[in-house]
Amino acid sequence: MTDPHAATSVTRVGPCTQRRAVLLALPGIAILPGILSACGMTPPPEPASTVQETTTVPSTTIDAAEIPVGTAKQVDAGGENVIVAQPSEGEFVAYSAVCTHQGGNVQVVKGMTLRCPLHGAEYDATDGANTLAPAPRPLDAVPVAVQGDKLVLG
Ligand code: FES
Repeated sequence: MTDPHAATSVTRVGPCTQRRAVLLALPGIAILPGILSACGMTPPPEPASTVQETTTVPSTTIDAAEIPVGTAKQVDAGGENVIVAQPSEGEFVAYSAVCTHQGGNVQVVKGMTLRCPLHGAEYDATDGANTLAPAPRPLDAVPVAVQGDKLVLG
């Protein structure tokens, strides 16, 4: 025999839970990030990409000796900020210093570590890879050629 006065389990459902359930139940509907944020849910971050694009800058020549092995340096290439690095002896690489998140000016922190001061994204100067969000993809590569003891960017 059951006691009619016994406590029963009640599941409370708030308006956000109900709205979320309705949105998830609709086939093919795109869930708007604003609606999810209003309910305290954040949309999942965009998956980081490894696709690296290439960009050109005004042709600029610098001394290779300016970039010791295992370091990176920011260089002005005709008004464009470029990160030049030497990951291993005799291997030189260059990238646009324009952050792939929202265009901040990426800085050399130490050695081969690069960071954008706007939102903290980090990159590895070895290959320009985005190593810390919110950078969505690697820095754009800039062509660099070794000519004797000089580096030609652009
Ligand atoms: S613009 Fe560089 S992290 Fe946002």
